[in-house]
Amino acid sequence: MLYNGYMAKIFENKHILLGTTGSIASYKTVDLASKLTQAGAQVKVILTEAAQKFVTPLTFQSVTGQKAYIDDDLWSGESQVVHIGLGSEADLMVIAPVSANTIARLAQGLADNLLCLTALVIHCPILLAPAMDSGMFGHPATQANLEILRQRGVYIAGPSEGRMASGLVGLGRMVEPVELLGTIRFILGRDGELKGKQIVVTAGGTSEPIDAVRSITNRSSGKQGFAIAQAAIDHGATVTLISANSSIVTPVGVHRIDISTAQEMHNAVMDAIKTADALIMAAAVADFRPDEVTNLKIKKEAGIPEIHLTYTKDILSDVREYRKKDGHPKVVIGFAAESQDLVHNARQKLERKNLDLIVANDILAKDAGFAVDTNRVTLIGKEGEVAQYPLMSKEEVAELIINKLIQLIAISI
Ligand code: CTP
Repeated sequence: MLYNGYMAKIFENKHILLGTTGSIASYKTVDLASKLTQAGAQVKVILTEAAQKFVTPLTFQSVTGQKAYIDDDLWSGESQVVHIGLGSEADLMVIAPVSANTIARLAQGLADNLLCLTALVIHCPILLAPAMDSGMFGHPATQANLEILRQRGVYIAGPSEGRMASGLVGLGRMVEPVELLGTIRFILGRDGELKGKQIVVTAGGTSEPIDAVRSITNRSSGKQGFAIAQAAIDHGATVTLISANSSIVTPVGVHRIDISTAQEMHNAVMDAIKTADALIMAAAVADFRPDEVTNLKIKKEAGIPEIHLTYTKDILSDVREYRKKDGHPKVVIGFAAESQDLVHNARQKLERKNLDLIVANDILAKDAGFAVDTNRVTLIGKEGEVAQYPLMSKEEVAELIINKLIQLIAISI
């Protein structure tokens, strides 16, 4: 999720209050605390008494570099009102794992330990990641308590299905830290500049079948498109990702539509843009496809086949025509994969496809473009302005593009 030590802007200066309760899953919370800290967040941990049977304050202090709090701190005199101090600075409270007992206490508004007391004073969102035996989770009391909390706007992630501490398999495992990190990103971004905006992003290289087993494709990995989808989520957008690549983890909150061919991508894009504010075409769409496809496997004995190619539809050209009539999407950003005359060719594409912005990259550069984690892009705007950027991670490029998109949407209103 985070490449090359890139700290996502979304975590910068964010205060996360991380509560943990009595469950063996609390060892995973140490990893979550570490991941959040590495991503750039300020993480303060509160352990319940039962949590300390599994992990210690020192464990958390070691990975966060910050004091981890226990009930005794309420009476320590370090600060007169520890819970008010902790609660007032928090941007998000996460309780992971949250036990059935703490869920019940939160639902009832009890304040008999530092964690529940702090939950009563905060004004920020709360995210709960339950972990317990599946019978306890399914119990009507637990379900009713969760429903009360949901009604109050509390986010609940999981539990997931799998092997539990008892050795039984069922619904009750805490969701994995990496997924919680994605959920935290999603919640932190909710009030961003793209709140209420619908953004369609395409990713990956389409694949055009020749026969039952063979196809023509390209080396696009989809990484740039997925990173753009994540950056749009970080800024609060509603994101549809039309993807020709399903091997990358989908950012939490993204609605992913899987396609394979250029025609399928065309259909999905034309449908998704009807209500979209913006389209970002990061996908490497095939320009040609075999004009005849057999459902069988072409046999070697039949000799070397002659494969006739035909043009696929140019999606952005059809989007241009749709936009003329309908006005949606308000902003369209395209990509230009070039091996020569980068700026000249990209500018021509921008004009031909009537784009608001084009992201050009030299596909012959080893460290940029296809199938690597980095990119070196040149952005060309509608008025002809050209901005060249140094080598960046694809996350940084994504953040750059989304920041440009925010400006373009503001102008288009
Ligand atoms: N694109 C598209 N439909 C296609 C091919 C490309 O919408 N059938 C989009 C790509 O997603 C990209 C932009 O058009 O945003 C430019 O793609 P690129 O492959 O660089 O250019 P082409 O228009 O295909 O022209 P050429 O291959 O000749 O460079």
